[in-house]
Amino acid sequence: MTRGKFITFEGGEGSGKSTQARLLADRLKVRGIDAVLTREPGGSPFAERVRALLLDPATPSHSALSEALLFYAARADHLDKTIRPALAAGRWVICDRFSDSTRVYQGVAGGLSGDALGALERLVVAPTQPELTLFLDLAPGDGLARARARGATPGVALADTDPFERRDPQFHERLRAGYLAIAEAEPQRCVLIDGAGAPDTIAAEIWGHVERRLSQFHERLRAGYLAIAEAEPQRCVLIDGAGAPDTIAAEIWGHVERRLLQGVP
Ligand code: TYD
Repeated sequence: MTRGKFITFEGGEGSGKSTQARLLADRLKVRGIDAVLTREPGGSPFAERVRALLLDPATPSHSALSEALLFYAARADHLDKTIRPALAAGRWVICDRFSDSTRVYQGVAGGLSGDALGALERLVVAPTQPELTLFLDLAPGDGLARARARGATPGVALADTDPFERRDPQFHERLRAGYLAIAEAEPQRCVLIDGAGAPDTIAAEIWGHVERRLSQFHERLRAGYLAIAEAEPQRCVLIDGAGAPDTIAAEIWGHVERRLLQGVP
């Protein structure tokens, strides 16, 4: 069973990443790819309980380290219960926020050292790193206005009142700079998307990136098969799959006869 692909969405408040994560999961399903849509904090029963604590305005103030440890406690369970089993079963996982959020919210913007966060990431996440991370970039003022306009929409419970949205403007500027720095430092994994466009235009751009990587994925699969066939010619036969089914069947029968039926009465 080939492991599924792990795609994460990141961005500041109101950047549209939850909408885009849903649109991508829907589109993958149409393409016949079984995709699980999940989110952080949350995504498993325990992690959802931790989410409620983290986003509850009544939760007493605490350090960036305490906060990061809670996000990582939730993430460890989310990986164990939801993400890793899905990937192992060949399903794709689309996650709305992941460890880059901790790097920027608790790290760059919250002041926690990169060393501390790197250690947590190695302990909890490695080797389940996303193959692709889509950063939806939007000027913080525009994003916050969108997040407020969205109000108490069902399904985004607590969003309007969550303590992260109520931080000062500099905090949100630091978030954005943090995301841009990660995208620049890890171009293999990260793609920066302008979040200011219309949702459909953004969805098409995202699909383009996923397709390019998807086709690379199928090419790598093919190269893998060709390498096995070359390395084990005693056992393997390469058949051109482009012909008519009858022609291919006749060729296969020829191989079966020559290799397996010689001497069989
Ligand atoms: P949520 O309502 O899901 O916000 P959004 O729609 O912006 O994703 O609330 C999640 C909040 O938690 C959000 O403000 C970002 C913050 N967060 C962190 O600070 N660190 C993390 O590691 C994660 C996953 C989220």
